[in-house]
Amino acid sequence: MKEAWWEKAVVYQVYPKSFKDTNGDGIGDLKGIIDSLDYIKDLGVNTLWLNPIFISPQIDNGYDISNYYAIDEIFGGLEDIETLIHEAHKRDIKILLDLVLNHTSDQHPWFQEALRGKANIYRDYYLWADEKADGVAPNNWESFFGGSVWEKEEKSNQYYFHLFAKKMPDLNWKNPEVKRAMVEIAKFWLDKGVDGFRLDAFIHMIKDDFNKDVPNVPAGEIAIAEEYYANLPEVKRYLSEFISEIKEVKPDCFILGEAASATPELADSYIREDLCQTVISFDHFAERIIEQDERIPKGLEKRTLDAPEMKQKLKKWQHSLSEGKLPTLYWNNHDMPRVVSRFGDDTQYRDKSAKALALSMYLLRGIPVILYGEEIGMKNLEIRDIELFQSPQATSQYIQLLENGLKKEQALRRIASVNKEASRGVMQWDASEFAGFSTKANWIGENREMFYNVAVESQDEMSVLAFYKQLIQLKSEDLFTFGEVIFLETTDNILAYKRQYNQEEALVLVNLTGEEVVAPAWLDSYSDWILKMDSEDVIGKTVAPYTYKLYIKKDEE
Ligand code: NOJ
Repeated sequence: MKEAWWEKAVVYQVYPKSFKDTNGDGIGDLKGIIDSLDYIKDLGVNTLWLNPIFISPQIDNGYDISNYYAIDEIFGGLEDIETLIHEAHKRDIKILLDLVLNHTSDQHPWFQEALRGKANIYRDYYLWADEKADGVAPNNWESFFGGSVWEKEEKSNQYYFHLFAKKMPDLNWKNPEVKRAMVEIAKFWLDKGVDGFRLDAFIHMIKDDFNKDVPNVPAGEIAIAEEYYANLPEVKRYLSEFISEIKEVKPDCFILGEAASATPELADSYIREDLCQTVISFDHFAERIIEQDERIPKGLEKRTLDAPEMKQKLKKWQHSLSEGKLPTLYWNNHDMPRVVSRFGDDTQYRDKSAKALALSMYLLRGIPVILYGEEIGMKNLEIRDIELFQSPQATSQYIQLLENGLKKEQALRRIASVNKEASRGVMQWDASEFAGFSTKANWIGENREMFYNVAVESQDEMSVLAFYKQLIQLKSEDLFTFGEVIFLETTDNILAYKRQYNQEEALVLVNLTGEEVVAPAWLDSYSDWILKMDSEDVIGKTVAPYTYKLYIKKDEE
């Protein structure tokens, strides 16, 4: 059987607002991405995933869409996306758009129509329920963005459902018209030449009976209710109907599903010809608290990688998907802090930890998804003003930290370290005043870097950028695509695995942490293998922090 193109996909995720601004408004745009295609090609990646670019009030940076058929003017126009697709294809780069099918913006004409009243034909595009008792929401389910999932609509005295922000009402997928409308949207973009979609939050498409309450929650309080609005068995049925229609027009359309809470077992069931080709799950990350301070509330503690736990998870993801199914391999995205700050060490070992973590992940079996800027070792954005945090919890956390005695800067630093906004800083193109991103101050805050930027790193063959290029190049080899993965026994903080394909073999060995650890006894038996990537640490009895090595077995002939 001919292999599918995505088996060798290396995805580069671009957050368009933060990539490159060409019209001087401080916000990245499509022309900026077009201008950067040679850079992207040179990285060696072959697939580009763009976070949402459609018309949107930008309540959630584009995940609240009010018109799926047009480009938001902050990014450009239809002709720009057409050019981008064309220019990307000229360079053999595939384009994935971010398709939001669980909800729309409240400004979408469907919702505006639905608001006209119960008799409107668009009413049933959304999810409505009556109050439980006078002034009491239909149930006690909590929204992911804080507060109840229910918002009262005064005119009809009914409530509408929103899993995310209030201004992002959820669609009713049990209404066949919703599927029909979404299929039309998907076909419109496929017709423009896109190669697939990243499917936002698809695991939430179907909700349970609204009469159910989360048990054991005190009256008047709310609770996250994943069991009622995530991964319900019927999701597969509705998704399959949607995907099957899309595949009729484009059989090799690539569906990268966002299944944040999927375990490997669940992911396995979502990876199917008529569902997703692979999924993005948050399950493989493991963290541990490294500093106890009673002034810091739960969730804001200083954390780092829990290497032993993460190793177990990676093993499970590598070994429990059925034959032929691929996991995604990733360290960060726009919903979580950046890898070098979160799991590496962005001060003492910035280069080394960025490289070590990349090597440990991307030569495993699966599809790498690299967040823009990760390849230059970009660290978390420092956010200096509480107003700039979008998450509704940030302000209450801030107030609490100040009350607990933290200084303003300390409080902001703590909040930024766990916040998704920290990953969304602008791309560091050069060391000039506005980082080569724009000609003026940008929309999210300055993160100018004198050394960790494209211009400087392109001139340095030891840079993080050079390392990523080499790694992506290696990933395209059959050994690292099709080879068997064999994990080797090591002390807790070291990840070591072999890849084997026909006569070829490679061994990856990485100390995932900033601690010196005991060296594996078996290492001597690889002494005649060739060192292909090397942090240049001598491994004796111990392995230095963030040591990384890639050994390749010598050709027998
Ligand atoms: C997942 C996206 O990655 C996130 O950024 C967004 O807020 C939610 N889905 C809602 O669309």
